[in-house]
Amino acid sequence: MKKIVLIAVALVALVSLSVLVYGIEARQAADVVSIRVSDALPVTDPHSQLWSKATEFQLPMGSQTIIAPVKPAPSVPYIQVRSLNNGTHIAFLITWADSTKNDRTVKIDEFRDGSAVLLGPVGEMAVLAMGTATIPVNVLHWKADWQADIDTGFQGVESAFPNFWVDMYPNVIGEPPYTLPGNFSDAAKLYLPGWKVGNSFSQPLKVTSVEENRARGFGSLATEQSQGAIGRGIWENGQWSVVIARQLHPSDNEDIQLISGEKYSTAFAIWDGASGDVGARKSITALLTLYVQ
Ligand code: HEM
Repeated sequence: MKKIVLIAVALVALVSLSVLVYGIEARQAADVVSIRVSDALPVTDPHSQLWSKATEFQLPMGSQTIIAPVKPAPSVPYIQVRSLNNGTHIAFLITWADSTKNDRTVKIDEFRDGSAVLLGPVGEMAVLAMGTATIPVNVLHWKADWQADIDTGFQGVESAFPNFWVDMYPNVIGEPPYTLPGNFSDAAKLYLPGWKVGNSFSQPLKVTSVEENRARGFGSLATEQSQGAIGRGIWENGQWSVVIARQLHPSDNEDIQLISGEKYSTAFAIWDGASGDVGARKSITALLTLYVQ
């Protein structure tokens, strides 16, 4: 009897040790670890104390040199990334140095600052290039101009051209100057087709500064039908601090479902508006492993 108890105790010790080792190994093998907390995640607060519970990972940046328009050298040498999850949602805090705040894209030579998180299955190199036809990836893209639309109101043409004036607009309520979205009835929206058809870029009333996308290889990035990502970015003292968050298990089955205790592929991208970054012209990390604690 005593012998059986001893064997049982040894077995339990062995199992918990291997779980511990696996946990530590998985954490050690991962480039980014999303720390499990029981709190509500600070999805719109880059300065929350809760972020001190997350390990900071300093990630070197390279640049996209595979397809035109290429970026010869990264805008920033490093970014800092922290991640928290609470069993229902995952959040990333990305910080990087940027001496200028570029948060308007009205004029043709204006480009936004931005950052993105890519999520894909573990162990697939092709994931870095935004997935493949058979390996879809999720891309959560925070945009500084969407943030400005939320923080200070929609930045229309008049924000870049103060003398801009419209004498009349079909079906608009009231007198000029017209503002978006205030004066625009449904009928008037016909003359702002992007807004009318639901193009997320043309929405004057932004509810989130993070766009949820899916891609099956570069050139195929598309806005997801259901938008559930959230976040917030703050620029101060020459640095962006941006939170990007989404559900661990989005309702769309084609999305990457993040299971606690598992590993995934991830990568990060940064756009520097002052350098004219947009689309493919960006700084990117290498393909990384994310461990969701
Ligand atoms: C070698 C790697 C990569 C290549 C060759 C590449 C290429 C491209 C190309 C050609 C575009 C424009 C066409 C399109 O919208 O699909 C694009 C846009 C985009 N890519 Fe990538 N990409 C790479 C890695 C990444 C990574 C790692 C991320 C995210 C972490 C990312 C996120 C995005 C986003 C959000 C856009 C839209 C940007 C915008 O609207 O300005 N890409 N990429």
